[in-house]
Parts: sequence; structure tokens; C-alpha cells
Amino acid sequence: MNDWFVVRFEVDSGEVVLLDQRRLPGEVHYLRCGTLDQVADGIRDMVVRGAPAIGLTAAYGMVMHARQELDSGERSDASTFLVTLGAVGKALNATRPTAVNLSWAVARMARKASEVASLDPKSRYQAMLGEARAMHQEDAQACHTMGKLGAEDVPEGATVLTHCNAGALATGGYGTALGVIRAAHEAGKNIRVLACETRPYLQGARLTAWELHQDGIPVEVICDNMAGHLMSRGEVQFVVVGADRVAANGDVANKVGTYSHAVLANHHGIPFTVAAPWSTVDVRTATGSDIEIEQRPPDEVARCGDRIVVPQGVPCRHPAFDVTPANFIDALYTDRGRFEPKGGWVLPG
Ligand code: MRU
Repeated sequence: MNDWFVVRFEVDSGEVVLLDQRRLPGEVHYLRCGTLDQVADGIRDMVVRGAPAIGLTAAYGMVMHARQELDSGERSDASTFLVTLGAVGKALNATRPTAVNLSWAVARMARKASEVASLDPKSRYQAMLGEARAMHQEDAQACHTMGKLGAEDVPEGATVLTHCNAGALATGGYGTALGVIRAAHEAGKNIRVLACETRPYLQGARLTAWELHQDGIPVEVICDNMAGHLMSRGEVQFVVVGADRVAANGDVANKVGTYSHAVLANHHGIPFTVAAPWSTVDVRTATGSDIEIEQRPPDEVARCGDRIVVPQGVPCRHPAFDVTPANFIDALYTDRGRFEPKGGWVLPG
């Protein structure tokens, strides 16, 4: 059990409390958000990140709205409650476009709001809080389910490569890709992990390494551009990553750099796998090319920590995600089972 948490709704203060992941691994520091803008900024500015975790944060942001209505003592009618909550959901949805868990969570909270809109403010707030907490628990449970499934495929003695951070820090708990790794470790498999550093935010170096090291799972950090070399030398036996959106045809959007690992793994005959809860599967997006790729500030690429490493006046680009086609993916582990997108993906009903 971790002695830290990623996101929590604090009932006493009515605030959303976020672990500031930008400060890890140096410092475990929590940011208290008492306004919608603070919650939205927390998602946009990477205080909290990872597809399921930003969905949960948005859900708690909507709980905060219901709570503020309760605290104000003014009872809005059902339609005013839904209209104002709709605006909150829209603002949260606009923070990061690629991870579908965000809009999925906002839609689920909006459905709950419609069910309880005719009730008094206290009952509305309690129902919204109950829904957000249920989502949180369900996500952690989904991670355990897919972790067990994926762990069966991890070879004994394997070196497992992962990219970005798809761990407890990115989910309701346990992690998706890191859930597979944790479950394999817990099953007694003697595995070690190569964490790609994941420029420019260094989620692999800072976050994945931090989580796995705490759990006593052997982990080594490499620069993103070292993966091909190590694969060519037979030093990687399995790849597992998370996902921000799985299109209806099985294409997967994940942190930029994932596609390169998939191409390399396929070239070298190394299983390339993805773990994601069903809330990441987007049946309304037909293919990977329909997925909006978040373009983040170029300045994030120009910097390495506090230092600017690109000559002044030279432009940079920062597409934050890429798409791996279904036919590069040997297995997709979900809370609804294990699928094989490679060679024909049929979306289950
Ligand atoms: O930009 P980030 O850090 O939010 O990107 C996170 C990822 O790409 C993760 O792999 C993905 O969200 C899955 S998290 C379980």
C-alpha cells in the first residue's frame, strides 16, 4: 500500500487534492484545488496526468461543483444545476484532448447528475461523490484484472520495456502497464524493467522508476533512443505500455515514442502489448488517424529541466502522443479480457 495518493476529494474542505507529479521524485507535495480553474489547470499543466487519473480528477472537479452549490445555501432548480454542471464538464474536457478517459468520466458524472438533479443539494452532492469514488475503485480493480491477464504472457526471467508512466500514479491504483509488471512480479516471476525516460516530461525516468523502485521491482532507466540498440542485442523480451485511447479498429494512441517501440519490437519479434481499462476504448473513433493528438507547448521540448538546450530562434514541436496501428499489437489486456489486435480486431459488443 502506498503512503501517497494521486487524487482525492477532501470532504472537510470541499477541495480536490492532487499529488503534484511535476515535483516527483524529489518531493511528495500536494496541491489543493478549491476552484474549477485550479482543477483544470492541474490537468492541463501535468500536476496530474495519465488517462484514467485525469478522468478521475475531472470527476472530482464535478463533485466540487455540487459541493459548492450545497455550501452556498442556494438551491438551484434541476435544469440550472445541469446547465452549470455541463459548463464545468465542458471546461474540464477541454484541458487535454487525446485521453478519452477524460470525456468518458465527465459523461458518466453528467449521467449521474441527470439522475439526481431533482433532489436537494445535499443528496445531489452525496450521489456525485459516491459516483466519483465508485469510478475510482472500479479503475483500480480493472488494473488488477488486466494486470493478472497480462502477467501470464510475461516470460519468466524477462526484461520488460515500458514507456512513459502507466502506473499507480496514472490510474485509480496499481497501474495498467505497471499493473502487468507488478502482477508478474507478485506471481514470483523473476523480471526486470527497462523504463524509457520519455522526453520531454520524463514520466519514465521520474515516475515509473520511482514507483517500481518503491515496490522493490528491479528497474533501469534508459534514454528513449536506446531501445532499438538493446532490442537488437536480445536484451528485451517483452514490451508493455498503457493507452490514452483505443480506436474501434484497435489502433492505440499513447505517449509519443510508443509507436517507435512498437515498430522496433515487431522488427525484432518481441511481443508488443498494451494494457488499458475499457474506459479507454472509444467505439466512436473509427481509426487511429481520427484521434486528436495533443500539441503541447514547444517550449517543453526546448527545455531540459530548467535549462534551455535549443538555440534561441530555432523552432521546436511537441506532439504529445502517437498512434500505434492495431497490426503491431500482439495483445491488449483489458478488464473485459485479453484481445489480439494484430491480425484482426473485432470490437466486442
Ligand atoms: O502526458 P501523460 O503523462 O498524461 O501521458 C500518459 C500516457 O501516455 C500513459 O501511457 C497513458 O495515459 C496510460 S496511463 C494508465
